[in-house]
Amino acid sequence: MSLLRRTHRKFTSVTTPDQAAVTTHTLVTPSPESLGFEETSVKKVHRPIYLDMQATTPLDPRVLDAMLPYLTQQYGNPHSRTHAYGWEAEKAVEKARAHVAELIGADPKEIIFTSGATESNNISVKDLNTFAESIRPDTSLVSIMTVNNEIGVTQPVEEIGRICRSKKIFFHTDAAQAVGKIPMDVNKMNIDLMSISGHKVYGPKGIGALYVRRKPRVRLEALQSGGGQERGLRSGTVPTPLVVGLGEACRIAKEEMQYDSMRVKKLSLRLIDGIMSRVQHIVRNGDPNANYPGCVNLSFAYIEGESLLMALKDIALSSGSACTSASLEPSYVLRALGTEDDMAHSSIRFGIGRFTTEQEIDFVVERVVQHVDKLREMSPLWEMVQEGIDLKSIQWSQH
Ligand SMILES: Cc1ncc(COP(=O)(O)O)c(C=O)c1O
Repeated sequence: MSLLRRTHRKFTSVTTPDQAAVTTHTLVTPSPESLGFEETSVKKVHRPIYLDMQATTPLDPRVLDAMLPYLTQQYGNPHSRTHAYGWEAEKAVEKARAHVAELIGADPKEIIFTSGATESNNISVKDLNTFAESIRPDTSLVSIMTVNNEIGVTQPVEEIGRICRSKKIFFHTDAAQAVGKIPMDVNKMNIDLMSISGHKVYGPKGIGALYVRRKPRVRLEALQSGGGQERGLRSGTVPTPLVVGLGEACRIAKEEMQYDSMRVKKLSLRLIDGIMSRVQHIVRNGDPNANYPGCVNLSFAYIEGESLLMALKDIALSSGSACTSASLEPSYVLRALGTEDDMAHSSIRFGIGRFTTEQEIDFVVERVVQHVDKLREMSPLWEMVQEGIDLKSIQWSQH
């Protein structure tokens, strides 16, 4: 408990709004230590630098502080209406609901707590499809990811929303990678349904939310039956500590999004410039203009992405979405963009977040440059490129 208290004290001294304004100006990088993370022990045991923020984000210590009471003394069931344990839990759940709603410009009544973005996507897409087909044959659903989890590309959700609304088509967006990172407003963007994940915004895993528009009303059918909690859409006892964690994560995100986004952008440029200025034949996958800078996907020509990942063992990275990392297939996202298979196989995703530091970025740049050079030196293809041979002109014999 003493560690947590110390953590909290340290943190508030860093993040009071005035301080944040000062640091915003001077762009002082808050160290994980100053934010309450055990940087010293991380360094002591030489844990890899974490650059996989699209897979999941670390829990913000302030979020843990907010959750703790509901994991210990205040353990009531938020649906218990007959005693104080239930009332205090319900109050906490409703406060969290308001924080989630505020972050996306929604009414708290439009927020349904789920286990995460996957479940929110399922409730939206599966049921709405059935609904649209059975009730209104002329209606269909548009579902897009606001920020792509592999290459960070952002979609013009506002325009898509406008088109959908004008054609009376429901618009769902999976905003797991967007909420808390870029401004989202369900009314401005005409979003009817939106999936949110706790663990992508420095909140806990196993909790998320579904935004369901009330005007014009979107009617959904529940996937599971039971006690009828969450307006009948998601039966099962609402997990108060997790919900409180999600609420606090959203509250912090709303307050600090601008600051976080400026830091992440600066670190992202530092990473890209650092690598690109020293290594040739790199392609940044995605759209250079429409992207979330915290997701940097680079293809290193003449190198196998998996080999580079293995060489960079002191950095926790991924070659793309955690969902597809088990297969050796190149990313379908890169393929859809027309990326050649060899370049798709050479891609690595760098996920930068709230707790990433400049020193970490500099370390990553050094390591990447060093290992790309080393791997290329071992590559016969690279040797041929150095000799001025156009690899595309080669007729490889097939046996
Ligand atoms: C865009 C997107 N949607 C959904 C998910 C799954 O979210 P959850 O783990 O909350 O179910 C992820 C990441 O895992 C994601 O990146």
